[in-house]
Amino acid sequence: MRAVGTVHRDYKISSIDPRLYGSFVEHLGRAVYTGIYEPEHPTADANGMRQDVIDLVRELDVPVVRYPGGNFVSAYNWEDGIGPKEDRPVRLDLAWHTSESNQVGIHEFADWAKAANTEMMLAVNLGSRGLDEARAFLEYVNHPGGSYWSDLRRKNGREEPWNVKLWCLGNEMDGPWQIGQKTAEEYGRVAFETAKAMRAFDKSIELVVCGSSSPKMPTYPAWEATVLDYTYDSVDYISLHMYFENHAGDTAAYLAQNARLDDYIETIASVIRVTKAKKRSKKDVYISFDEWNVWYHSNEADRKVLEGRDGWPHAPELLEDIYNFEDVLQVGCILNTFIRRADVVKVGCLAQLVNVIAPIMTVPGGPAWRQTTYYPYLFASRYGRGTSYQLSIDCPSYKTDFAEAVPYLDVSAVESDTDGALTLFIVNRHETDAITLDVALEGFGDRKVIMDKLIAGHALKAVNGPDKQTVEPVDGSGVSVGEGRLKAEIAPLSYRMIRLGQ
Ligand code: AHR
Repeated sequence: MRAVGTVHRDYKISSIDPRLYGSFVEHLGRAVYTGIYEPEHPTADANGMRQDVIDLVRELDVPVVRYPGGNFVSAYNWEDGIGPKEDRPVRLDLAWHTSESNQVGIHEFADWAKAANTEMMLAVNLGSRGLDEARAFLEYVNHPGGSYWSDLRRKNGREEPWNVKLWCLGNEMDGPWQIGQKTAEEYGRVAFETAKAMRAFDKSIELVVCGSSSPKMPTYPAWEATVLDYTYDSVDYISLHMYFENHAGDTAAYLAQNARLDDYIETIASVIRVTKAKKRSKKDVYISFDEWNVWYHSNEADRKVLEGRDGWPHAPELLEDIYNFEDVLQVGCILNTFIRRADVVKVGCLAQLVNVIAPIMTVPGGPAWRQTTYYPYLFASRYGRGTSYQLSIDCPSYKTDFAEAVPYLDVSAVESDTDGALTLFIVNRHETDAITLDVALEGFGDRKVIMDKLIAGHALKAVNGPDKQTVEPVDGSGVSVGEGRLKAEIAPLSYRMIRLGQ
């Protein structure tokens, strides 16, 4: 089987916002407690944060982390997490049926973010609370001093404001599971007024309004049209969320699901364009895809906690999906889609970062370890920054219930803005056949292979664990580059990253 194509230096898609490779930490399960925070852990720093986790987050080079939720934020009082730790209240978290000790709040998270070399993206509670809480939180976080909330922050030990740029106006407000769910009209009004108040404080912040929590929602995409009708000129991004699953055990259909992701992005990009025209607006609104991942392995295990049969446990094991090799291919395809749609998707958050549907797992008192999906995320984050290029590839394809022609090879191309390397991210979805990839490199000058990473040859259900890294990248070989062409044999069911330097 052969796939023949071209990447041309004149055919750029867009520059890539580095925040496309962000992630997410929610007060959920063991993401915070025994995830990023475990004061008794041998590697804990002076703030009780696990250094082994910080090291992995730094290795991933995560540009931005969304916090503190998620569903959690919709009944959260941020004031519970400030001041002396011994005075902080224990609250019942209604989103996940657990207890929240509030031992980690905005100060601890901000210190962690600094240590992990990442920026914060904060969400305000528009579920059980609203505008007033949002403006107080913003003042606490971003105002230098001389006002009630900023002086309280200083009293609590933080002199300088954190100057957080990105703010989410609530979370998944379309979902019946959300505390304080709203209709699109109700939410549109609240989001508009909240945005107005937050902008009155600081015009330069970037605001994210909630879009659909999934393309399967009955209100999608009318939700986006209504919400943007209220908020278009007041916000910068509309958020989308999507999770992927293979309950049916159908690998071909599973790995084709980024066709649905493509439709989702294109539909909302169209709603944005129509709203812009309707408003005669000069500004653009982009997509913040601030929750995406594979999520299904842990569904059954979570039921007891979510139904409240375990009472109100603190930091139980929740959403602890253990990812397999098949999921590496899926995450590779999803990231390729985001790179190809970098023209409209500017922010992305892999949901989540530690323990909860996460690339990083921890053992309390023990090691932190890398899930299988850690690697495609690592490679995209480290080598997928710069400019995204169009690729026209003529490749054999297959049909699924929802897509007529899914190419066996899923490919994206990025020219780095730091070292100028041209990187191809490639997934071969074919279950038995290798594919010979032959790409003309037009306008990129003489190139040579400077890195070739491959994940292949594993059983689809192979997983990693605290004591085993069964699925991890190895060096690939056999790529030839000459006379302006790259030729490589792409193994069946494989993830490959090939970097071409000058
Ligand atoms: O990431 C897990 C949950 O998924 C989030 O809390 C919520 O926003 C979404 O439904």
